[in-house]
Amino acid sequence: MNILVIGPGAIGSLWAVKLQQDGHRVSVIARQTKSPYQVQFGEQPCSFRNHQIEDIRNADLILITVKAWQISSALSPLIHLIHPDTMLVLMHNGMGSLTSIGTLLQTHPVILATTTHGAFKPSPSRLIHTGQGETFIGAANEKGCQCQFLTDVLHHALPEVYWHHQIEHALWRKLAVNCVINPLTALHQCANGDLATPEFQGIISALITEITAVMIAENIPVSLEELTDHIHQVITATAKNHSSMHQDVFHQRKTEIDFITGHLIRTAGRHGIPVPENEALYQQIKALEKQWES
Ligand code: PAF
Repeated sequence: MNILVIGPGAIGSLWAVKLQQDGHRVSVIARQTKSPYQVQFGEQPCSFRNHQIEDIRNADLILITVKAWQISSALSPLIHLIHPDTMLVLMHNGMGSLTSIGTLLQTHPVILATTTHGAFKPSPSRLIHTGQGETFIGAANEKGCQCQFLTDVLHHALPEVYWHHQIEHALWRKLAVNCVINPLTALHQCANGDLATPEFQGIISALITEITAVMIAENIPVSLEELTDHIHQVITATAKNHSSMHQDVFHQRKTEIDFITGHLIRTAGRHGIPVPENEALYQQIKALEKQWES
């Protein structure tokens, strides 16, 4: 297949490398317009065509791995070049980004994805696969429902990949993980595993209680006990990781808080559910972002 990866950060580069190694023609749109885009993966130097108009026009599949808040600005200048049959896969932390791609939702097959693979770029040209994970994909619109075959294509390149008939369920589970781990590790500038220490247990259980109430109101099948276990498992499995928000705050970059805790707060508001603990973390992260802006 002709595959274009927009935003080859750590996760985008991992997919680009794995899909290329699996025999697909993979090109990228990287932040640097300098062609080609090169990344060292273990012993393997990998090179991709970058910013080529014909790669946008000819793409069968576009994997969009920019941050949620960058989707609109990354896609707007390219929209007129993308063929209506080209499948668009959105893979990022957080929820609520679909509103920013409104028109594409009507014309293209759109698929949402969430992954637990760990990837890290210690420098712009080096990529490390830090943890095996699994990926769920599912349709975001009518045309997307016809793209179930994509599961096999992606699974062959980077297993495990599953098709989810209600991708919202998988996205909410990931959102719950991100609502707990990301702001706490960002504010305390600690590794994910540090959240297993006793001092964090009170705040973590308060956050999970609020999140569970919102998820139940959204008809997501979940229980407080099961979600608590799941989040603690992720903390253990990713103990050495520095979460994406930890890294954003460390580098004084805009975070994904509006699409993570922000999405939870907006949904809670619609249901009239109070979420004061999540609200407090949201405000603290926003206060940090304001400091850098000014
Ligand atoms: O955003 C992240 O860093 C990841 O989604 C997760 C699961 C919290 C692991 O670090």
